[in-house]
Amino acid sequence: MHVSHLSLADFRSYARVEVPLDPGVTAFVGPNGQGKTNLVEAVGYLATLGSHRVSSDAPLVRMGAERAIIRAAVTQGERQQLIELELNPGKANRARINRSSQVRPRDVLGIVRTVLFAPEDLALVKGDPGERRRFLDELITARSPRMAGVRSDYERVLKQRNTLLKSAAMARRHGGRGLDLSTLDIWDQHLARVGGELLAQRLDLIATLRPLADKAYEQLAPGGGPVAFDYRGPAGSEGAHSREELYEVLLAALAESRKQEIERGVTLVGPHRDDLLLRLGQLPAKGYASHGESWSYALALRLASYELLRSEGNEPILVLDDVFAELDARRRERLAELVAQGEQVLVTAAVDDDVPGVLVGARYAVSEGSVERV
Ligand SMILES: Nc1ncnc2c1ncn2[C@@H]1O[C@H](COP(=O)(O)OP(=O)(O)OP(=O)(O)O)[C@@H](O)[C@H]1O
Ligand SMILES: [Mg+2]
Repeated sequence: MHVSHLSLADFRSYARVEVPLDPGVTAFVGPNGQGKTNLVEAVGYLATLGSHRVSSDAPLVRMGAERAIIRAAVTQGERQQLIELELNPGKANRARINRSSQVRPRDVLGIVRTVLFAPEDLALVKGDPGERRRFLDELITARSPRMAGVRSDYERVLKQRNTLLKSAAMARRHGGRGLDLSTLDIWDQHLARVGGELLAQRLDLIATLRPLADKAYEQLAPGGGPVAFDYRGPAGSEGAHSREELYEVLLAALAESRKQEIERGVTLVGPHRDDLLLRLGQLPAKGYASHGESWSYALALRLASYELLRSEGNEPILVLDDVFAELDARRRERLAELVAQGEQVLVTAAVDDDVPGVLVGARYAVSEGSVERV
């Protein structure tokens, strides 16, 4: 699969831009702040309905404009699809597929798949648990787009349950009047059902990804591993695998923490609280690994994601935003060799020399909002 044309309107710094793209390598080269990342961010948005740089859509809309539009022609074998996303911050986004507007933005997921490498990836290793949860959940959705529905159901159930807990906390402060625990039982079941499904997918993903990440780390930094993961979830989730088992685990954990939850007025158990502990050798990576090791780890997670999607028949677009400049010569060469055969590889770099020699392909000069083939 590859994007054969990208068209942006009022997206980030671009009032309008049209970029025809070929399979293979395309490098976007230009000085800082000229709009290189903005281009690949738009491609990433098609795959995840989010930006790798910001958590809300508002900064993606050109300053002064009301909405942004990302349009892409996507080629998969013989088949071509046209996707259009309209970003309306504060209002519902809209989508069209092959000019039909009878679709939700979520229906776009799965048409474009990307694995995006960026300097921000260091946060996968060094950052908060939320970074790793997002990594897992985005990959889960790339593997199986219907999980987008499960994720948003979970968010909705969590929000409603928190509202209920907050009012229970209030009621408790007023001597227990109006405290309705039977409704809470029902929300526990909802949360455990949807949360159990999400957990099952995360655990399956982690088991599949771990050997791939270990192999990728070995390729990038020979002898530096091994790489291992521990999922930090609710008590009892270690031995559980199926949705049904995890439903029971979550239900028991919710029962266990109910008193505390009512005191605090917030849901303390569930996939939204979990973490993925990344280990390098015998030590946790976070807080122990060196800067270079952390970088290699983050790259290995992305390379493993690429291998995983590929092995499941979903060749993703590889996006490498400004990563080569951050690497020493050896890791730069290794990474370049590992990604060079991707069906479509989009690279950004400030100068030509930052694009490794094995990445032969099209070049675009990006300067003051113009994107010109050179
Ligand atoms: N919503 C927006 N409206 C207008 N301009 C924006 C908006 N968001 C970002 N920009 C501008 O886009 C530019 C950044 O573009 P981008 O991040 O793509 O740069 P880059 O070419 O990748 O630079 P670098 O080499 O430093 O990574 C900045 O000058 C910024 O001011
Ligand atoms: Mg950039």
